[in-house]
Amino acid sequence: MQIIKSVTEMQQWVASVRGADETISFVPTMGFLHQGHVSLLAEGQRRGDKLVLSIFVNPTQFGPGEDLEDYPRDLQQDSQLAEQAGVDVIFAPEAKQMYPNGYATYVDVEGITQTLCGASRPGHFRGVCTVVSKLFNIIQPQLAIFGNKDFQQLAVIKRMTQDLNMPVEILGLPIFREPDGLAMSSRNVYLTEDQRLQALVLSQSLIKARELVAAGQKDAAEIILQLKTAINQQPAARIDYLQICHQLTLKDQLEVAGNSVLLLAVYIGNTRLIDNGFLMD
Ligand code: PAJ
Repeated sequence: MQIIKSVTEMQQWVASVRGADETISFVPTMGFLHQGHVSLLAEGQRRGDKLVLSIFVNPTQFGPGEDLEDYPRDLQQDSQLAEQAGVDVIFAPEAKQMYPNGYATYVDVEGITQTLCGASRPGHFRGVCTVVSKLFNIIQPQLAIFGNKDFQQLAVIKRMTQDLNMPVEILGLPIFREPDGLAMSSRNVYLTEDQRLQALVLSQSLIKARELVAAGQKDAAEIILQLKTAINQQPAARIDYLQICHQLTLKDQLEVAGNSVLLLAVYIGNTRLIDNGFLMD
């Protein structure tokens, strides 16, 4: 396994692989890998001749006052996990490589970026789309794999690749959870022991919502009210958003249906956690 830090070297490696008519699967990440990331790598390994992992804490997707500086990093540990997962190359550029002096081009997807995380984190998806476009151009994968954990991000990336005719298949994989239900996230390390317990309120909200729906409750406002009441009982919890949306348009729904997704973002202390899930089988 190689670790490549320069864009030019990465492009040279890609050219040699494509010259040999081999396919590339790609998993973009910000590192501090956990089993959720590893599940994406495992699928990438099955699906392509070569597997590339990118590790880049992308400054353009962090807003002022967010955790860009504090975001956890551990390239050594990541390398071990990547090697075990069959990664051929880790692309781990410095910010200067991706955004040199004079950098001026951004990719903006309209519409579905305006709600949910897009509303609470202005500019976030512009940064995500910009970096993912750049990574796709550098790595030229046939397949790129994302997690449903970032449900809106996946929808935005699908929109972008379709709109810009990017020749890459986008695959979304299920949320990987801790045994007690907490969705795995690099940000979970920020939680104290007590906050870690309170963070279970996110996955428990999904379970509760599915139970309510199974028992016949289809009124979105009523479900949301009950969930918010339960979440607000946790002293460290502060709801950013909790919405029931159509899985494709991400528009709010009044009535739960087969295409309904519950999406939530909740601060536990200073840590912002997200989760989501379908409400019917
Ligand atoms: P990051 O948060 O590191 O996540 C990288 C990928 O792993 C994303 O596709 C995310 O949805 C997926 N992932 C995270 N936690 C997961 C879990 N518990 N189960 C399954 N998949 C999970 O998302 C980003 O980085 C960045 O925005 C990026 C796309 C790399 C652009 O900078």
